Amino acid sequence: MHLINFKELSSQQLIKIIDDGIEIKHNPEKCRTALDGKSLAMIFQKTSTRTRVSFEVAMTQLGGHALYIDWRTTNFALADIYDETQYLSRNVDCIMARLLKNADLQTMAKASLVPVINGCDEKYHPSQATADLITMKEKKGTLKGIKLVYVGTHNNVCNSLIEGCTKTGVKITTVTPVFNEPSRDEELLENARKTGLHETTLDVKEAVKDADFIYTDTWIDMEFFQDPKYAEEKEKRVKLMMPYQINKELMKKSNAYIMHDMPIHRGYEISSDIIESSKSVIYEQSENRLYSAKAILLNLGKIVSHNFSN
Ligand code: CP
Repeated sequence: MHLINFKELSSQQLIKIIDDGIEIKHNPEKCRTALDGKSLAMIFQKTSTRTRVSFEVAMTQLGGHALYIDWRTTNFALADIYDETQYLSRNVDCIMARLLKNADLQTMAKASLVPVINGCDEKYHPSQATADLITMKEKKGTLKGIKLVYVGTHNNVCNSLIEGCTKTGVKITTVTPVFNEPSRDEELLENARKTGLHETTLDVKEAVKDADFIYTDTWIDMEFFQDPKYAEEKEKRVKLMMPYQINKELMKKSNAYIMHDMPIHRGYEISSDIIESSKSVIYEQSENRLYSAKAILLNLGKIVSHNFSN
């Protein structure tokens, strides 16, 4: 019912969402009224461009309606999340929430009478990883057997990529000299290990040689990037991570497509020339957030009894 991460989804269910996303991209008119009269509450404790826009436009294009709710302007900021969610879920058909803490999202999911979608917390970013898998399948025609190399800090996006890739047959190598501790999920890593599709290394040059896709993300969580209190940690991370920047030198021996979930910090995790190079699929990947949002909304059991393939 909820989409907190990919743990509750079978491989088949996740593949169906990815395939629906591709189908919806090419045939949007097929589901123009699928969510007629439905409302999605989108609640944000953090800033967003893509997650907000993609879910709001998705609801409009599916015939429904989305409400943008800034956490700070509501009584979620004052009261118990459980109580406020009990109310909210009685007036809308689905909730998408970007919260700082996964524990709060879990409380929200427990209280909600309607599906709750994780719009990114400190541990997972499933709607982003869905768009990433849509992008990979579009480019290669398949997911099974392709190789993604993630270079950056081990964070929420990295977790969802590991889960998403290993559930859909993608080999994923993570090159993560820094582990963002709040994102740690040993169960997720153990499940990935059992598939034999996930490996880690610090030899970035070797890892990218046979990659189909190279993916990077911010080295510092978005809410801390410009925070003066985080300046010392930021300086430490930049020094440590700079040898792992995606740039021309690293790409010399690779023909891989380049991915980034955005927002981009040019000159940090990736150089400007690579963002705009012919191998970059970054902007297409960001466009695919819309089809990811639509496919997720249409596949969440209770929001609608719509079978896209009909
Ligand atoms: N990638 C992503 O989630 O973008 P936003 O933070 O802008 O929503």
